[in-house]
Amino acid sequence: MRLKNSIISGVGHYVPQNVVTNDDLSKIMETNDAWITERTGIKERRHVDPEKKETTSDLGYQAALEAIKDAGVDKTEIDFIIFATLSPDLYFPGSGVLLQQKLELDTIGSLDVRNQCTGFVYALATADAFIKAGKYKNILVVGAEVHSFALDMTTRGRGVSVIFGDGAGAVVLSASEEANRGIIATNLHSEGKYAEELMMAFPGPKYGWIESLIDAAEKENTHLIYPYMNGNFVFKHAVARFSESIVEVLKDSGYTREDLDLFIPHQANLRISQFIQKQLNLPDEKVFNNIQKYGNTTAASIPIALSEAKQQGRVKVNDLVCLTAFGSGFTWGSVLLRF
Ligand code: UT7
Repeated sequence: MRLKNSIISGVGHYVPQNVVTNDDLSKIMETNDAWITERTGIKERRHVDPEKKETTSDLGYQAALEAIKDAGVDKTEIDFIIFATLSPDLYFPGSGVLLQQKLELDTIGSLDVRNQCTGFVYALATADAFIKAGKYKNILVVGAEVHSFALDMTTRGRGVSVIFGDGAGAVVLSASEEANRGIIATNLHSEGKYAEELMMAFPGPKYGWIESLIDAAEKENTHLIYPYMNGNFVFKHAVARFSESIVEVLKDSGYTREDLDLFIPHQANLRISQFIQKQLNLPDEKVFNNIQKYGNTTAASIPIALSEAKQQGRVKVNDLVCLTAFGSGFTWGSVLLRF
């Protein structure tokens, strides 16, 4: 049996309305627009409105509706959900089942992927394998995050909290007979020895439960209570692994960097994206960045960027597109596809 190709048949994204600028942050902590812009490229990000109580699956739901509409399929034609997030609505169960319920999709399977900034790349590669195995026809792949509820919004937490934002993106990955389109190659990597260089410790048994959390709070061990990032260390690994992964996916598929029409890096830091762009010798029109508007939305950043790139005409049918991410775990990987 000939394997089917898996093509991205629909894309969508959703971000909360509430815009938080660098100047807004400088009113609540010791930071400033010049520092954030120079070190990260970020000018603003979105935070959910706490009054509205929007959760990760709510954002994912809105992005999913857009992607399903864009794919031109009825939602009942979706036969599996993969939901990538590091900020699920609940400690368990995962957000995939909550999205399945919101979409009223009978009893189809839902899988959560916990690979942080690389979550969407892992989710897309997994969906691709399911489709090529002939298991499913239309898989909804979602990346969504609500970071804002768990950030240390004081000067103590500024090294992390100015970077992250909330949002969601989604694609429908569909089985297709079209021979020249779809996912061509993927690679997925991890290096768990660096798990605690970028992590959120609670809630999890390693550092104990409620009593330990209260103790950590009383002792102001904020690196355990809030997301912790060894920024410089992460930066150095990110630039090396991004490059390795791109070289690997191009080599595996027989393409060269000159063949690329668009490179969409996970939006971790504009300086990282620019560093990689220089290494690959890609002109500006072949790299898509929107971190300036949204900050780092971890698992949501690539599908949000892909959706905006499509809306802006920056990516067209048949374009050769490389999606690459690096993040907590450490995890990293790429997907190369003909859009
Ligand atoms: O998405 C997953 C992967 N994540 C990443 O790839 C992120 C990788 N890391 C980074 O992007 C950068 O390391 C950061 C943007 C997080 C930090 O930039 P940096 O150039 O590495 O700065 P730094 O942490 O070395 O801090 C430099 C100085 C420090 O002050 P002193 O010790 O030199 O006096 C910080 O306290 O900047 C200070 N600082 C700030 N100042 C103003 C840290 N955060 C802020 C802030 N505003 N928000």
